[in-house]
Amino acid sequence: MQKIVLLNPKGGSGKTTIATNLASYFAVAGLRPTLMDLDAQGSSTRWLSKRAKGQTAIHGIAGYERNSRVTRSFATRLPLDTERLIVDTAAALEAQRLPDITRNATAVIVPVLPSDIDIHAAAKCISDLLLIAKIRRDEQRIAVIANRVKKNTVMYKSLMKFLETLQIPVIATLRDSQNYIKASESGTGIFEMKSYVVREDLDQWMPLIDWISQRKALEIPPGSPAITSSMISSAIVPTPGPVVRTMGSLAAAME
Ligand SMILES: Nc1ncnc2c1ncn2[C@@H]1O[C@H](COP(=O)(O)OP(=O)(O)O)[C@@H](O)[C@H]1O
Ligand SMILES: [Mg+2]
Repeated sequence: MQKIVLLNPKGGSGKTTIATNLASYFAVAGLRPTLMDLDAQGSSTRWLSKRAKGQTAIHGIAGYERNSRVTRSFATRLPLDTERLIVDTAAALEAQRLPDITRNATAVIVPVLPSDIDIHAAAKCISDLLLIAKIRRDEQRIAVIANRVKKNTVMYKSLMKFLETLQIPVIATLRDSQNYIKASESGTGIFEMKSYVVREDLDQWMPLIDWISQRKALEIPPGSPAITSSMISSAIVPTPGPVVRTMGSLAAAME
């Protein structure tokens, strides 16, 4: 299993957009994904609930609140057959929670927008990952995505200059695209949309997909205590249990 964490305490940087599109990619690729939503705003959970019956199954875990009405229909267990766990995190995340959230993560991805405020927040986030979560650069688990970029702008240039100084790989540069907005409204991902509409976006995702596929998978099987401790929220009890496909129809997927 790979555990991929989307992280940046700055809201609106693209965590949910990238988490949901990654989940959709893995679903289409047949790599049984689980999307864990740790944000009380529940954007990933809402996206999942919009998926149509015929779409490829993505298991959802609303990890932020066990008893709310929104989450009741979502299982709180990590299915044993999960191959890709994608963790969407909240804005304003406290730095002390980073060691827990990133434990056993095979990839920690920080999306950054081209703005002064976002650059500043990203610098703090990366420094917390190195110093508080104690992830070493040479582990090559942290990566950055430049999101919503408009090339040839001054801000884009200063973002790329800043990212160079971090010595953290920039694994993708995603343009500002209506396709992500359409995808988020319909519970789908760019990998499930008509390819002629999203060709440019798909091309931009390729280096990101390549980088993730090169990450070492966890050797611990899902459901083991080592994974449970990394599951952050005490509300989640990832003990072995039946595989529940909350969204999408399993029957349809098997046809
Ligand atoms: N590359 C992009 N192009 C266009 N809109 C985007 C892009 N990335 C994110 N958005 C939009 O920006 C808003 C914030 O993104 P979101 O993924 O929710 O950020 P976060 O989860 O970090 O708060 C959303 O409305 C989303 O649709
Ligand atoms: Mg979000």
